[in-house]
Amino acid sequence: MLSKRKQRKGEANQEKTQFLCLGVPLLQNSQVQHSFRFPETETQTHKAQKTKTMKTAKDLRLGLGLGDVPIIPGSRHRPPMKKPMWIIVLIFFVCMFLTYAYIYLPQSGSACYIFSSRRCRSIADWLPPAPAREFTDDEIASRAVIRDILNTTPMLSKNPKIAFMFLSPGSLPLERLWDKFFQGHEGKFSVYVHASKTKPVHVSRYFVNRDVRSDLVVWGKISMVDAERRLLANALQDPDNQQFVLLSDSCVPLYTFNYIFDYLMYTNISFVDCFKDPGPHGNGRYSERMLPEVEMKDFRKGAQWFSMKRQHAIIIMADNLYYSKFRAYCQPGLEGKNCIADEHYLPTFFQIVDPGGIANWSVTHVDWSERKWHPKSYRAQDVTYELLKNITSIDVSLHVSSDEKRKVQSWPCLWNGIQKPCYLFARKFTPGTLDSLLQLFSNYTSP
Ligand SMILES: *[C@@H]1O[C@H](CO)[C@@H](O)[C@H](O)[C@H]1NC(C)=O
Ligand SMILES: *[C@@H]1O[C@H](CO)[C@@H](O)[C@H](O)[C@H]1NC(C)=O
Ligand SMILES: *[C@@H]1O[C@H](CO)[C@@H](O)[C@H](O)[C@H]1NC(C)=O
Ligand SMILES: *[C@@H]1O[C@H](CO)[C@@H](O)[C@H](O)[C@H]1NC(C)=O
Repeated sequence: MLSKRKQRKGEANQEKTQFLCLGVPLLQNSQVQHSFRFPETETQTHKAQKTKTMKTAKDLRLGLGLGDVPIIPGSRHRPPMKKPMWIIVLIFFVCMFLTYAYIYLPQSGSACYIFSSRRCRSIADWLPPAPAREFTDDEIASRAVIRDILNTTPMLSKNPKIAFMFLSPGSLPLERLWDKFFQGHEGKFSVYVHASKTKPVHVSRYFVNRDVRSDLVVWGKISMVDAERRLLANALQDPDNQQFVLLSDSCVPLYTFNYIFDYLMYTNISFVDCFKDPGPHGNGRYSERMLPEVEMKDFRKGAQWFSMKRQHAIIIMADNLYYSKFRAYCQPGLEGKNCIADEHYLPTFFQIVDPGGIANWSVTHVDWSERKWHPKSYRAQDVTYELLKNITSIDVSLHVSSDEKRKVQSWPCLWNGIQKPCYLFARKFTPGTLDSLLQLFSNYTSP
């Protein structure tokens, strides 16, 4: 059965055709009309429109003096046709064809050509698609490896764990909150700390001796991606780690350990932020020197804070091709652009190799509503039960383009097909918020 929208489109099409053909395809018009089945919920407007269309048809029919005599070519009592009649019959058939073409072949070339409808964007759309680009040797090799990893059933661990990977310049100011979060869940998680500037002093037993060998990280540069890869490589050493969460020193958990564990473990997608930004801070950062492997149409943006499944962590380890493109051509200041590698490499990589495998939003909340260079930082006085509940109540993911249009893309946060709260963690919380957070933790994480 045709959907209601299609029916409406059909009506609009008939009106258009009628107008175009100056009321000639009368019989055919009413035939088309009846071939559409209207559901019982049909609105008054629709009925009115339908009646009006039929009335117009009737009027025109009478106006031409044909009455209810059907125009059937080859009718027995038909007088020899005069010239105007021939033209009418000809136009009738042309209109019939056009109606057919418009209704049933809306995307087709002929329909576009004849109606020059706005829906048909360009001639290029109805030319046969250009043959797919020939892949380079590196691409063929890379795709083969990645496809095989993704198609292999993941190794199931008897003792699945979540790897919590912290990127920090030094000590973690909110470590005591995380200690509280981990308490009682030993054996179900592992902690990794990448401290890029100073050796951290740990206050929680869960963090002691969990530092990985690190290197300097410069904001915006590929060294940020290198640190992410280093953390992944270390966390992959433990075969029990099934999910890999990247966190910063200003991140806090929004739920109990068990809630977060189930949310991340019982889904087969990775939470990697990814959207298409046509603005200067999105596609404006793309360099054609990334061609042929990275095309503008695949260039994506997203916050770096991810949570991903083991297979995805492995394909990142296996990738050298796309990574080296970003290392060479996505840097602040290169070609007068401000390409931030950690905001583009992973979203673009997944868009190319496994677009359906990522959720397209990050499970770490951040508030960009102040529209500054950096997101909102919460101070001690901002931290209330209400603030945290506000963040956990969000179940729609929003992305705003960086051009003047500020186009908002929004989609529901679907977890295995069910709409759920989007965020499990939040940033940025200043060190001064620790005491309020410790006090509120059992309160705000209780259901
Ligand atoms: C996730 O698993 C479901 C069934 O359990 C399957 O239909 C779906 O394709 C899987 N998705 C991915 C990205 O593997
Ligand atoms: C994420 O976006 C891509 C398109 O960029 C889409 O193919 C994919 O299905 C989306 N993922 C989910 C889980 O909806
Ligand atoms: C929580 O959300 C409500 C409704 O959006 C808003 O009015 C209120 O100011 C928010 N409170 C905090 C503390 O963010
Ligand atoms: C949490 O705090 C709010 C506001 O202070 C209070 O109304 C609520 O009863 C508390 N809930 C729990 C579970 O302690």
